[in-house]
Amino acid sequence: MGIFSNNPNDIDISKIKLPEHLGIIMDGNGRWAKKRGLPRSAGHKAGASTFRKISRYCSDIGIKYLTLYAFSTENWSRPKEEVDTLMKYFKEYLEEALRDFADDTIRLKFLGDISAFPNEISELMVKNEELSSAHEGMILNLAMNYGGRAELVRAVKKICQKAVSGEISPESIDEKTISDFLYTKGQPDPDLIIRPSGEHRTSNFLLWQSAYAEYYIDDVLWPDYTKEHLNRALIEYSRRNRRFGGV
Ligand code: IPE
Ligand code: IPE
Ligand code: MG
Repeated sequence: MGIFSNNPNDIDISKIKLPEHLGIIMDGNGRWAKKRGLPRSAGHKAGASTFRKISRYCSDIGIKYLTLYAFSTENWSRPKEEVDTLMKYFKEYLEEALRDFADDTIRLKFLGDISAFPNEISELMVKNEELSSAHEGMILNLAMNYGGRAELVRAVKKICQKAVSGEISPESIDEKTISDFLYTKGQPDPDLIIRPSGEHRTSNFLLWQSAYAEYYIDDVLWPDYTKEHLNRALIEYSRRNRRFGGV
């Protein structure tokens, strides 16, 4: 029992050291559907349901920043039918959030170039950000049309513009300058990044911000991901020794 147990059910999650900022690469929807002989769209539907449950759970246990990777800059290369299905589920969620989040504490934020989405979706994103902007609970970052490289290119352009106009001198540019031009400006770097579905790669997620993030790979596919899986990752995280280059 207690903190030395290896059974996640024995451990009180509220008593362990939680990551202040948790990132999750929501992966495995397609394989989940394939295993069941279902179309990939069924996997995305099931994944959307997991997303709702896990984001609520993170808010309940006191995670302060949660970043969920929902759609990458590379995901546009999927067949049109699949992209259209994803847009349909994004729209459904954004409409639901607009209805239900008014009385909530969660603050929604979007990381990525939202202007690439159909207008009805980007407008819902802006409305959700505005509606929840004064909320003081968990910040829920949804990485949509997000790519770590695209984010850095955007930052470099903005910094160059300021250098050309004389607002900043090239000599003064430091790591904080770059962090301040990313979508996550003002937020702490992710402490823990979880990738379900067993893939060992970042797929362009939070490249700059994840320099010292702990990684946790879980073999379970995202639609099957439960709070028990998350608890297991959180417990392992709480026991890791982060050195940040020190001893
Ligand atoms: C994650 O599941 C959802 C998105 C990337 C939008 P996938 O659709 O990548 O599922 P797999 O990796 O093909 O199983
Ligand atoms: C990463 O998953 C992007 C999201 C989960 C949104 P992918 O399924 O697109 O990544 P790869 O193609 O396996 O690297
Ligand atoms: Mg995938």
